[in-house]
Amino acid sequence: DATDKGEFRHYMMKEIYEQPKVISACLEGRISESKVLTGCFGADSAFLKEIENVHIVACGTSYHAGLVAKYWIEDLAGLPCSVEVASEYRYRKVAVPKKTLFLTLSQSGETADTLAALRMAKELGYLTTLAICNVPSSTLVRESALTLLTNAGPEIGVASTKAFTTQLTALLITSVAIAVENGLSAEKEKELVQAMRSLPAYVNSALEQDAHIKKVADRFANKNNALFLGRGTMYPIALEGSLKLKEISYIHAEAYPAGELKHGPLALVDEDMPIIALVPHNDMLDKLKSNLQEVAARGGELYVFADKDTDLHNEENIIFTEVPKVDSILEPIVHTIPLQLLSYYVAVVKGTDVDQPRNLAKSVTVE
Ligand code: AGP
Repeated sequence: DATDKGEFRHYMMKEIYEQPKVISACLEGRISESKVLTGCFGADSAFLKEIENVHIVACGTSYHAGLVAKYWIEDLAGLPCSVEVASEYRYRKVAVPKKTLFLTLSQSGETADTLAALRMAKELGYLTTLAICNVPSSTLVRESALTLLTNAGPEIGVASTKAFTTQLTALLITSVAIAVENGLSAEKEKELVQAMRSLPAYVNSALEQDAHIKKVADRFANKNNALFLGRGTMYPIALEGSLKLKEISYIHAEAYPAGELKHGPLALVDEDMPIIALVPHNDMLDKLKSNLQEVAARGGELYVFADKDTDLHNEENIIFTEVPKVDSILEPIVHTIPLQLLSYYVAVVKGTDVDQPRNLAKSVTVE
């Protein structure tokens, strides 16, 4: 029952722990052993063959999910993809290339700016409109031509958790479906689908760091600022981690692509500016390690989230949290979990109202 917190003190924690189950629910009926089942987009999936461009529009956490999908769509399908916050999109003149898919992301399906963007897009000659949404009866679902429901169940905590990871799961399904029509081999499709099938188990093992992260949060909770760094798909996860920390613990946080450090934010780094580094296990690993050395050299305290084969570990100024080693396509989803736990426990230490942070509403239905 969604209105029952069960064994948990807050809805947010209950929702964090529901993720393995709701990610399974999001995958259910959408993939076979080796393929994406394109029927999940509705009776007529012919639009998948025609897409030449993708425009993604959303707000807040949903926007961050869209930013991850840009990496996936351009990488797997080789199609150009742009991502924009709805409050900007709706007030400018947008150039729409031919055969562009208009994709909205929303937990509630009632966000005023996202709805306004959809209504505007419907006048602009897009190929079609697809909503990835959590609420089947929402306005966004009703007004979009196509829908892929995230199946996360009601999300009550104002800080979005399971809605985000199921959006990413739905976006991965969508990205692979588009890629299959754009030259992705059956072998690669199978590899990706098998990775998806293992996702709930990896999210579960990421949750096993709970007790460790609680201790990390005790050390972190007295900070006034934080800088989140990531590269590639980890950059949007850094943005999401910093948003979560701001929302519920009221700690000022920013996120940067790690490669931007020397272009400005490095000036902020001293012993009072902790760095949260999301370390991917790919060819950017060495580059990220060298970014971390730059931070360490300036006395910054580093909170590193990485798998153990990255050869990173606890050191004097490094607080290491192990994240399960997964196929790189799953990394952004699995790395989200420890950041949710970190912001949750920091907020608990600070005694804020975790489920109802000050000044915020669950759904922004008025501009
Ligand atoms: C997330 O933690 C936020 N509370 C917020 O950014 C939210 O994601 C945003 O308002 C968009 O909401 P939606 O997904 O319901 O459209």
